[in-house]
Amino acid sequence: METKLLKADKESLSLAGRLLSEGNVVAIPTETVYGLAADAFNGNAVADVFRAKGRPQDNPLIVHISDICQVELLARLFPENAKKLADKFWPGPLTMILPKRSEIPDEVTCGLDTVGIRFPSNKTAQAIINAAGTPLAAPSANRSGSPSPTTARHVFEDMDGRIPLIIDGGDCEVGLESTVITLATEIPMLLRPGAITHKQLEEVIGKVDIAAAVLSELSNEEKPASPGMKYKHYSPRAEVIILDGSIKAIEDYIKINSEQGDYMLCFEGEEEFFSLPSVTYGTEDDALSQSHDLFSSLRKVDELGAKRVFARCPSADGVGLAVLNRLLRAAGFRRITL
Ligand code: TXA
Ligand code: MG
Repeated sequence: METKLLKADKESLSLAGRLLSEGNVVAIPTETVYGLAADAFNGNAVADVFRAKGRPQDNPLIVHISDICQVELLARLFPENAKKLADKFWPGPLTMILPKRSEIPDEVTCGLDTVGIRFPSNKTAQAIINAAGTPLAAPSANRSGSPSPTTARHVFEDMDGRIPLIIDGGDCEVGLESTVITLATEIPMLLRPGAITHKQLEEVIGKVDIAAAVLSELSNEEKPASPGMKYKHYSPRAEVIILDGSIKAIEDYIKINSEQGDYMLCFEGEEEFFSLPSVTYGTEDDALSQSHDLFSSLRKVDELGAKRVFARCPSADGVGLAVLNRLLRAAGFRRITL
């Protein structure tokens, strides 16, 4: 299959809308990461998304809407807390898990009785949902396991030959996937941290638990609150090891332990301290800049041919929790405290 890569304009958006309404898979920009979209009510189209990604069959998809009225097409209930969060954070990088309506095909929700819903703020995403005339189920547009794509070029690298169309809407503003919260439990629970922080959620609806899998590895017997959390994720081909300590301690560690093919993933302005070639991801005290750069920098270390990457450990405050969550998964939870 030939994969077209088109800049977002009137014509390409209407082509995307037509392809989607006819049951095809199209990659679309959002403010978080690129998504691999299909009509959420077309089970066959959604099955093609799983095939294109090589995604495990038990990991459900988020459904994207372009108008708050569409929630009722998808969710059986729209509880008060969910309405409050929608008021405050939609459109934007927040996904809410709600009890699902039976019309949603099992391909989307993988047999769960809940559905993840998100109203993206990206104008191109909204225009494509409108042009398709239906909510769109869309996971991140990477091959399963690799870092989520934050540019159309990243999507092309992963999806060339697998889907008919990629819409190029430029660089994703946030760079990490949406915050996921479930409101289907008695106490709401943060399942995946993102640009909307735990504190911001609690300011609107009170107590929100944090799922254990956010910062720690689940044992094989444990059942995760969100299926996606049990998979190794976001990994470059290079082995990633997080070094948690001062610049001085890391410098000393590297002097003793580094080998040919090692790279440093550090913050901007620190490159000179390390005796390794380096790639940066944002600045030390700005988690939003780290979030914007992380996935793209993980792809860059692979392009450079790195065998192993030592990564500076981000702070877990605010949006930093999301950055640390993704980096831990990229590292398969290998973190050395110095
Ligand atoms: O920012 C985002 O959310 C991006 C863009 C494209 O919108 N999408 C995205 O989708 O990150 P994906 O499929 O890569 O991640 C969805 C996550 C997975 O961890 C999945 O297990 C979880 O959301 N999820 C989806 N539906 C769920 C449900 N009903 N219950 C629990 N977790 C759910
Ligand atoms: Mg993903």
